[in-house]
Amino acid sequence: MENFNFYSPTEFVFGKGRENECGQLVKKYGGTKVLIHYGQGSVVKSGLLDRVKASLEKEGVAYAELGGVQPNPRDTKVYEGIEICKKENVDFILSVGGGSCIDSSKAIAAGVCYDGDFWDLYSKKATVQKALPIGTVLTIAAAGSEGSGGSVITKEEGMLKRDTGSDLIRPKFSVLNPELTCTLPAYQTGCGATDIMAHVFERYFTNTKEVEITDRLCEAVLLTMIKETPRVIADPSNYEARANIMWAGMVAHNDIVGVGRSQDWNSHGIEHELSGLYDCAHGAGLAVVMPAWMEFVYKHDVMRFAQMAVRIFGKEMDFENPENTAKEGIRAFRKFLSEIGMPINFAQLGAKKEDIPTLVKKMDVQGKTGGFVPLAPEDVAKILEIAADATV
Ligand code: NZQ
Ligand code: ZN
Repeated sequence: MENFNFYSPTEFVFGKGRENECGQLVKKYGGTKVLIHYGQGSVVKSGLLDRVKASLEKEGVAYAELGGVQPNPRDTKVYEGIEICKKENVDFILSVGGGSCIDSSKAIAAGVCYDGDFWDLYSKKATVQKALPIGTVLTIAAAGSEGSGGSVITKEEGMLKRDTGSDLIRPKFSVLNPELTCTLPAYQTGCGATDIMAHVFERYFTNTKEVEITDRLCEAVLLTMIKETPRVIADPSNYEARANIMWAGMVAHNDIVGVGRSQDWNSHGIEHELSGLYDCAHGAGLAVVMPAWMEFVYKHDVMRFAQMAVRIFGKEMDFENPENTAKEGIRAFRKFLSEIGMPINFAQLGAKKEDIPTLVKKMDVQGKTGGFVPLAPEDVAKILEIAADATV
């Protein structure tokens, strides 16, 4: 196991009705004037926004609001938020929505405190040095942004999707009420589940030896997702299954399952170009990319992929030919994704094969990138070609 620091200071407030505690929580973390930030209407329709406002009013906390965050959140909305915060002397950002809304909130929180264009923090010209405190009320189990120090924003001009990371933008608190996810359409539930599984696989495929504890934690999260996802798709209001998935989404990405081991993240890098170019859901893009990435790299460590097949997808080990087992595991993953309603090739995603050179160029890989198997631009092109024509 490699040396590591693990810092995850977010207070998680889990369970039914907990959004009604927002006012107290904001006060606890020093907020006196809040920007409530939300998406394109699901929280208005469900009545959640009204409950959050009532909770702030009860505690005498003033607020401004900014809705309209799009999936694959845009820089233009971030500029709007920064402007409002400065004008209204906002000292706390409260995100009410999904990962896009949280990421936009993080960008605003850091942008308000940055003397320059906030995009510098995403184009890696500068790093986050200071940020307003953030709280979240999560409405979709997916990105894990409720417990992570990451944020991904798309620059509208050129649709460049880029990320930043800092402990300074980790939420102070995150309210996780599984009931709030019951209104999710099946497709978004599937996209979220795929993202959660991808966050674990990015860590599971490692070159670090003897990491039994994190291997087993990864497998626990993946087995949970395989059991619970079909249950919520069949019965969207199944609270217990929703609850398990919601906690799995957090555990998958605050790095508790990834500490002390090298990680990969190439599938995410490639996917961000797909959702940047086509504005598709991040989870849907991952469903197309990740099994293709697996097919491209499995020979690097056949036994690890065979382990995935046996321990996660319940396949029999072929001791004579472990490569068969490894390939069976990858097939089982793609089949699972298809069964939960995910696209598995370019046609189903709405992507075009002739765009592969553009996607590779936009990714702008200098030399080779990634942890498990470093990839050159021509490798990325090959993975996208496998993804383009994949079948179950
Ligand atoms: O905008 P509204 O009306 O709220 O609708 C949203 C949106 O259309 C809808 N939705 C959310 N909760 C709902 C609901 N509809 C009905 N009922 C509910 N309870 O779902 C749609 C998707 O929401 P979004 O916030 O975009 O989803 P997600 O949480 O998957 O976030 C995706 C973004 O997170 C980034 C992705 O790249 C993408 O931009 N990621 C962020 C990470 C991080 N910060 O650590 C890591 C991830 O790997 C990922 O890259
Ligand atoms: Zn992701």
